[in-house]
Amino acid sequence: MADKLEVLFSEEVITEKIRELGAIISKDFDGQEVTLVCILKGASMFTCELAKRITVPVKFEFMQVSSYGNETESSGVVKILQDLDEPIRGKNVLVCEDIIDSGRSMHYLLEVLSGRGPASLKLCSLLDKPDRRVVDVKIDYKGFTIPDKFIVGYGLDYAQKYRNLPYIAEVTPDAQ
Ligand code: IMP
Ligand code: MG
Repeated sequence: MADKLEVLFSEEVITEKIRELGAIISKDFDGQEVTLVCILKGASMFTCELAKRITVPVKFEFMQVSSYGNETESSGVVKILQDLDEPIRGKNVLVCEDIIDSGRSMHYLLEVLSGRGPASLKLCSLLDKPDRRVVDVKIDYKGFTIPDKFIVGYGLDYAQKYRNLPYIAEVTPDAQ
């Protein structure tokens, strides 16, 4: 048997939402440069598509933190696996994330980044799962709010699978 996938957001709907976010971000950072910090691996597709819709000068940085193993539950353990290449002191930093779930990883990450003295620090997340929040996190730019479902696609995985799907779907694993 295979995992069951049910589409929640089509590629067209996601593209339109990213276009809207890009327009707002471009307006907010008018006349300035912004450093996009892509949180690997989940935000890779979102960050690239968002960057294409931002009209102010953009720099790319990548970071990876661990919060999930191959399970669908947060471990509560957050560790930096890959750090930024360049200092962010004095820069406008826009963290790009796929989804805010418990909020643990992002809360930790924003504290780490703000300690490095950026000129501004904002968060953009494609998805928000507020029902599962354990730690408060302010999302400055948000794509979609979703109920407590486990989703895949557009960068998001289930046991490292389905990241390449051009749409977002709810997954019901085979064993359930
Ligand atoms: P948090 O620390 O619980 O907020 O975890 C956020 C991270 O968990 C995200 O960056 C995702 O990598 C992962 N995650 C949370 N919910 C989902 C989901 O529904 N599908 C896939 N990954 C998820
Ligand atoms: Mg992630």
